[in-house]
Amino acid sequence: MIRTAILSALAEEQQGLLELLQQPEKISHAGRDFWQGRLHGQAVVLALSRIGKVAAATTATALIERFEVSRIVFTGVAGGMGEGVQVGDVVVATEFVQHDLDASPLFPQYEVPLYGQSRFACDAALTALLLEASRVGLKSLALPAASLLHHGLIASGDRFVSGAQESQALRSALQVGGHEVLAVEMEGAAVAQVCFDYGLPFAAVRTISDRADDQAHVDFPLFVKEVASRYAQVITQHLLKSL
Ligand code: ADE
Repeated sequence: MIRTAILSALAEEQQGLLELLQQPEKISHAGRDFWQGRLHGQAVVLALSRIGKVAAATTATALIERFEVSRIVFTGVAGGMGEGVQVGDVVVATEFVQHDLDASPLFPQYEVPLYGQSRFACDAALTALLLEASRVGLKSLALPAASLLHHGLIASGDRFVSGAQESQALRSALQVGGHEVLAVEMEGAAVAQVCFDYGLPFAAVRTISDRADDQAHVDFPLFVKEVASRYAQVITQHLLKSL
């Protein structure tokens, strides 16, 4: 049976999906709650990645090993980093890089040791469907301000980026390494690497909750509480219908 995992970072983001889950069954494993059931005609497992790369890697591994999911889709929020990536916009990831991985001088900065690569790519076919679902979903939300849909590289690291200077420094350092990032968050690259290890399709969509600047700690909780769940709900709905 093909089973899709829908991973969210925060409970607020998962809430809308949980409310729609049919034949819900809660299974506790590895200190986490996994929700099996059906959503828009598809067999799914809903899970919280928790926050940070290690927690997300544990959740992804459990989804694969214990729940035998066939693919993983991440829906969550991120801080906007690229030019023109604003609060309320949506970024569908093409690839992920870990902005806090640095084993230099043994390996080039950002390269994941023993993999010979810095970036992990999302699955092209699943990502194309997620991009279309995001486009249709954004339209259906009929938001007061125009939200843009971006498609590109996302950086992950174990740090909530909450300063304009810090964000600029991070972006510039990544640019020097050849990585032009659109957004920053704390889990995606870890899940992408786990999926790479297991040969599983992975796709990720992130709504921009803040600009990773001095205002980020105020914008982030407000956005998560008020809007993130609606975005996750409509985008997931359109994606599952297209699978
Ligand atoms: N997720 C949402 N906003 C973020 C930020 N500013 N830094 C890291 N992760 C985030």
